[in-house]
Amino acid sequence: MPTALIIGASRGLGLGLAEEFAARGWNVIATARDPAKADKLYALTMRTQGQVRVEKADIDKTEDIEALHERLKDITLDVLYINAGIGGDRSKDARTWTRDDVADVMMTNVFRTIGAAMIFQDRVTTGTGVIAFMSSRVGSVSFARKRPEHEDLYRASKAGLNAISRSFQMRMPDQSVTVLSVSPGLVKTDLTGDRGEIDVPTACKGVVDLVLKAAGTQKHGYFRYDGEELPW
Ligand SMILES: NC(=O)c1ccc[n+]([C@@H]2O[C@H](COP(=O)([O-])OP(=O)(O)OC[C@H]3O[C@@H](n4cnc5c(N)ncnc54)[C@H](OP(=O)(O)O)[C@@H]3O)[C@@H](O)[C@H]2O)c1
Repeated sequence: MPTALIIGASRGLGLGLAEEFAARGWNVIATARDPAKADKLYALTMRTQGQVRVEKADIDKTEDIEALHERLKDITLDVLYINAGIGGDRSKDARTWTRDDVADVMMTNVFRTIGAAMIFQDRVTTGTGVIAFMSSRVGSVSFARKRPEHEDLYRASKAGLNAISRSFQMRMPDQSVTVLSVSPGLVKTDLTGDRGEIDVPTACKGVVDLVLKAAGTQKHGYFRYDGEELPW
C-alpha cells in the first residue's frame, strides 16, 4: 500500500485529503497540532481501522518536524503533502500589520512549509514520489484580480511559497521527485468562513487525482484542483 504524509490534517482540506487518500486504499499519516482536539481525524482513524495514523506536529516548531521525521524513520513516503496554512489577521492591511503579524504568516505559509519539505525530502520515493505544497491561485502574479487590501499578506505568502518551492525543487538532488504547487479552488472551510465555490470532498478528489497523475513527471508544476495548469 502506498503511503501519504499529510502535515496539517486536523480539519478542512488536510482532513479531506486524509479521507480521500484513505478511500483509495492508501496508508495515511496525518498530523495535528493538538491531536486531542482533532475529533474528526480520530473518527477517520476508527472508521479506517488504523489505515490512518495520527501524529502530533506543529509546523512552526522545527523540533516537532524533526521528531516526526525520526519517529517515521522506517517509512518511505509516496506523497508528502504539506497543507498547513493560516490566513493571518484580515482586519488589517499594509498600513497596520505589525512585524509579528507578517512574520507569523510568512513563517507558517512559506518558510516552515519549505523547512518541513527539506527535513522530509530524504523519505520521499525517488522517481515516482511527490512533494505537494498547498498553494492558492492568489499566489499567481500573472493571474491577479482586483482583491481587497486585507488579502495582500496571504497572497504574498502563497506567491512566496510558489517561488521558494521552485528554489527547493531546483536544489533537490537530480530533481527526481515531482514537486507540485496546488490551488485547491475556493473551498468552504474555516479559513474562508465556510464560503466558497466547492466543498472539501470535491476539492480533495480533484487534488488527489492531480497528484497521482503528476507522479513520475519529476517536474515542478502549478495546478488547480481540476488539473488546469496555472500561470506563475
Ligand atoms: N479553503 C480555501 O479556499 C483555500 C484556497 C487556497 C488555498 N488554501 C490553503 O489550503 C490549506 C488548508 O486550508 P483550509 O481551507 O483547510 O483551512 P483551515 O480549515 O483553517 O485548516 C487549516 C489547517 O492547517 C493547520 N495548521 C495551521 N497552522 C498550523 C501549524 N503551525 N502547524 C500545523 N498545522 C497547522 C490547522 O490545524 P489546527 O486545527 O491545529 O489549527 C488545520 O488543520 C492552507 O494552506 C490554505 O492556505 C485554502
